[in-house]
Amino acid sequence: MRKKILLTGGTGFIGSHTAVELINSGFEVVIVDDLSNSRIEVLDNIEQITGKRPHFVKLDLRDFGAIQNVFQNHQIESVIHFAAKKAVGESVEKPGLYYDVNINSLLNLLKLMVDFDVSGIIFSSSCTVYGQPEVLPVTESTPFQPAESPYGNTKQICEEILRDSCNANDHLKVISLRYFNPVGAHESSLIGELPIGVPDNLVPFITQTAAGLRPELKVFGGDYDTPDGTAIRDYIHVVDLAKAHVVALDRSINDLQKSNYEFFNVGTGHGSSVLDVIKSFEKSTGEKLNYNITGRRSGDIEKIFADTSFANRELGWKAEKGLDDMMASAWEWQLQVPKLFPDI
Ligand code: UD1
Repeated sequence: MRKKILLTGGTGFIGSHTAVELINSGFEVVIVDDLSNSRIEVLDNIEQITGKRPHFVKLDLRDFGAIQNVFQNHQIESVIHFAAKKAVGESVEKPGLYYDVNINSLLNLLKLMVDFDVSGIIFSSSCTVYGQPEVLPVTESTPFQPAESPYGNTKQICEEILRDSCNANDHLKVISLRYFNPVGAHESSLIGELPIGVPDNLVPFITQTAAGLRPELKVFGGDYDTPDGTAIRDYIHVVDLAKAHVVALDRSINDLQKSNYEFFNVGTGHGSSVLDVIKSFEKSTGEKLNYNITGRRSGDIEKIFADTSFANRELGWKAEKGLDDMMASAWEWQLQVPKLFPDI
């Protein structure tokens, strides 16, 4: 039986783009997802892009027996764990749900990895682990500040669980990828970010506003200590991010890790303000965006961007696409959404 890569949350935004890059690199992919924030049709679109259909099982990772069956039925070589709740605001309202889903899913996977002798896992961490850092850009050794939300806290706790597990078990090989702000879509416009309901994140809100689905974009905060007063993030094209997973997986499988717990910043190294993103969107698409600057969103930090030199050097990976590419591809995808998903 061929060895397979288990992608939890593989029908989601980052998971689906990573599935495509893995299949294109010759890996066989098994996706598990509860479809709570993604659509089953994504499998058809992955197949259309790659010519190969991933294996798929619908399950909730908190259901130990369900995920155990997947390990029994497929010879899993490594795991890439995307599946998690990720809305910062919702996490403040429902902290119990966030701790339950994000932490118990990881604990179940780690237990099964030991039971089935699977050593490698790539974990979807986030720049949120740094909180509001005192010094920018953030390097991997920048100390964690207290998390700004229960969501952020779950990512810090999951990294601690992984570090402790690596200390206790030499056979485990973990790479945490600390994503900055992934945006954009695949060049085929067959997969992209598909928020269910009102988007929380900036770029889908921009594209939905330009498409006439939302009356206006609210820019949260114009009085930050930044050159134009709006908050700064490090936006990264989702395809660049997906490729970082393939590189990390090769590193893990080929035993190239320098220690059994590694973590990398995955960003571009460039900070862009909300107004920079809007300008880039208007320039690269020719669309005019209706927006208004309003009050700050609670839980938001002022600015963060990555020092990516460690990831560039150690992984031999570098983000290639710029903000205009991210915006143009996000818009092309938005234009396809009504055709691909007429009921949305
Ligand atoms: C946050 C987390 C990130 C997480 C992501 C998942 C931090 C630093 N980042 O990203 O780890 O993966 O949520 O959802 O905690 N904005 C507007 N109007 C809008 C929406 C957003 O002005 O309608 C602004 C925000 O205030 C922010 C920027 O756009 O300054 C980006 O926001 P968003 O796309 O929601 O991502 P983060 O909050 O940075």
